Amino acid sequence: MTLRSLTPLTPDQAEIQRLARDFAQNEIAPRAAAWDRDSYFEPALVRQMGDLGFLGMLVPEEHGGLGLDNLTYLIALEEIAAADASAAVLMSVHNSLPTQMILKYGSAEQRRRFLAPMARGEMLGAFALSESEAGSDAASLRAQAVRDGDAWILDGTKSWVTSGSHAGAILAMVRTDSPGMRRGARGISTFIITPDLPGFKVGKKEDKMGLRASPTVQLIFDRMRVPADRLVGEEGLGFVYAMQSLEHGRLGIAAQSVGIARHALQLSVAYASERRQFGHFIKEFEGVQFKLADMAARVHSARALLHAAAAAKDRGEAVAPHTSMAKLVASETAMWVTTQAIQIFGGNGFVKDYPVERLFRDAKVTEIYEGTSEIQRIVIGRALTQS
Ligand code: CAA
Repeated sequence: MTLRSLTPLTPDQAEIQRLARDFAQNEIAPRAAAWDRDSYFEPALVRQMGDLGFLGMLVPEEHGGLGLDNLTYLIALEEIAAADASAAVLMSVHNSLPTQMILKYGSAEQRRRFLAPMARGEMLGAFALSESEAGSDAASLRAQAVRDGDAWILDGTKSWVTSGSHAGAILAMVRTDSPGMRRGARGISTFIITPDLPGFKVGKKEDKMGLRASPTVQLIFDRMRVPADRLVGEEGLGFVYAMQSLEHGRLGIAAQSVGIARHALQLSVAYASERRQFGHFIKEFEGVQFKLADMAARVHSARALLHAAAAAKDRGEAVAPHTSMAKLVASETAMWVTTQAIQIFGGNGFVKDYPVERLFRDAKVTEIYEGTSEIQRIVIGRALTQS
């Protein structure tokens, strides 16, 4: 038996949850193991998600989206993650980072040009902040833009870009200050990059431990000429936009983590109910029951914190340290719960014939990307101690 979530859902939220669960279980779950094995990204998935509205959940209807609230979006995202964490990160990054950045900081023309095709799944979004030498210390990034008449010339290499090889709109953070007068975090600006720009190249595809069906690539900007109207918002505010967007993105990663953890719990309960040792189903052993109880308590705690943060955000409240708390708790829950799941499965948890080893591999990155657990602790610690 799976314990129900205590979050009260409106009829619309329950309907979206059912739609996401049916889609995830019918269209994604049966193929997730093969996609992971082959490290295969399914382009049709983007179009299917777009058709269902899942790639424009937070985009207002006037721009072709569903115009839903954060809580509804995160409930749907948990369902996708409970089928395949790779599909979930595609949906999370797309909805939380590039579409939100264009919606909040983009010009009317940028919103008109990009949001509707992104919401329909015709144009996948990506977010390019990190570089090989600028990970947690994101403000130390070095990709450079230099103004040249009605355009900017961009040079540099961005790393760890989720969906970067298949994206039609990449929100890239690059320096626009001059090498002779650096302005730190205030010398960074955001541009909308499209793959048709001369000088744009997809670099190395990472061979990852988990999330293998989600392509993570380097993007190379080689004297790439970017029209001036691709600058998002104000010059010099790109780092602030990126940080504000990550506050949002981290809720998506928390939902992805809850979905992974919930899936591992469900598989563990089912396995413990059919596996017999010493003449008993292993679920009858207190040692296994205690593990399942702790797993369930942590999944529900993580979800409750996430939903509380989302609901507060939907009420228009500032939720910065709480989004980091939700991401921290949920990602560490996903790692812990998937580790317990492997222990319950024993040797069968250690081989690819059973799905829990994939969940364990997928869980790890949730403690790393969109800010490591250590970065979340820094954000929370600063909020607690700032005067
Ligand atoms: N909202 C608004 N402004 C913010 C902000 C926020 N949440 N966070 C910082 N800022 C502003 C600050 O106010 C400051 O502005 P001033 O210049 O006016 O003072 C400026 O940004 C610089 O801020 P800090 O001094 O706090 O910057 P820092 O260098 O100390 O870094 C950090 C802060 C929290 C450690 C930040 O660097 C960080 O979050 N690092 C992790 C980066 C990260 O999450 N990367 C993930 C990449 S995306 C990804 O994972 C790939 C994917 O596709 C899934």
